[in-house]
Amino acid sequence: MKNYLHTGAVRELLLWYQENKRDLPWRRTRDPYRIWISEIMLQQTRVEAVKPYYARFLEVCPNVETLASIPEERLMKLWEGLGYYSRARNLKRAAQTVLEKHGGKMPTTYEELRALSGIGDYTAGAIASIAYGIRVPAIDGNVLRVLARLQGSHEDILNPKVKAKWRDELRELIPPEAGDFTQAMIELGATVCVPNGEAKCHLCPLRGDCVAARDALTDVLPVRAAKKPRRIEKRTVLIIRDGTRTALCKRPSKGLLAGLYELPNVLGHLSAQEIPAYLRTIGFEALHVEALVPSKHIFTHVEWHMIAYAIRITPDFDGQCGMEGMQLIENRDLHQNYAVPSAFSAYTKYLV
Ligand code: ADE
Repeated sequence: MKNYLHTGAVRELLLWYQENKRDLPWRRTRDPYRIWISEIMLQQTRVEAVKPYYARFLEVCPNVETLASIPEERLMKLWEGLGYYSRARNLKRAAQTVLEKHGGKMPTTYEELRALSGIGDYTAGAIASIAYGIRVPAIDGNVLRVLARLQGSHEDILNPKVKAKWRDELRELIPPEAGDFTQAMIELGATVCVPNGEAKCHLCPLRGDCVAARDALTDVLPVRAAKKPRRIEKRTVLIIRDGTRTALCKRPSKGLLAGLYELPNVLGHLSAQEIPAYLRTIGFEALHVEALVPSKHIFTHVEWHMIAYAIRITPDFDGQCGMEGMQLIENRDLHQNYAVPSAFSAYTKYLV
């Protein structure tokens, strides 16, 4: 790797970063707590989507203490729409560890950071380098793409051995400005060395050393070995309302979307004719059934292909709902207190 990221190339990269970096809220601080929150939010999530969540999160949880003691439902509400909710639960768990084991002060070494819940090699490297200037690598998907193209490597970037090898090699090349180097690599991958055939090599400070630019390989690199196809689940979503209340179900505390509230839904696609009979099995009498537009949501390992119905039920229901975790919630309370994941975003507009 050092033939590509030699000292001169690293200097060019750092200069480029100084002149071209985006002004992002988490780049205005060296507070390890704030950098940690930003790096967790930025996993799998676009910068523009993260910005409002980051601001709101820090208003509610400005430090480790407030995060460690935030009630679960409030935390889920703060994270509502960002997805991958285990990230939020791990943040809270890690904050509790920081209180108990580190006296409330964020740890200052890569190893101690790495030991916290939800902090892997990348995040520990990002916090250690950006907040403390420690010369450790932080290799995310952006950086893997830059490194694969720079070296003209056809190795599978999803292979942990490839990443580990590049991490070892990169470690030796990190300049004293470790935080800027980390951010420069990420920024290059996010704004110039972008995926999907749109690389902007003419803007790249490393183009003189880049094999992919020289050999016109940016469209084929990086290589990712094919993943197992996602399982497809057909689901029927039921928006069950009685005029003043709407049915929501709390999901089990383990697994996909653990502990969040969802619109009641059943596996398989039910026809409109089947809905009244199904509702009777869970204790409701349907007065009116209206089909809504179908929608899809893609999770890491599964895709939900949803059809949906808006269902009016009789207003006198006060018995036990026949579906696991179901409650009838006053419509005026829906938005305040219940975090409904974005898997249902095609239908939350009906919750008014
Ligand atoms: N993606 C991951 N970390 C980032 C950062 N610090 N700035 C911008 N995008 C990022």
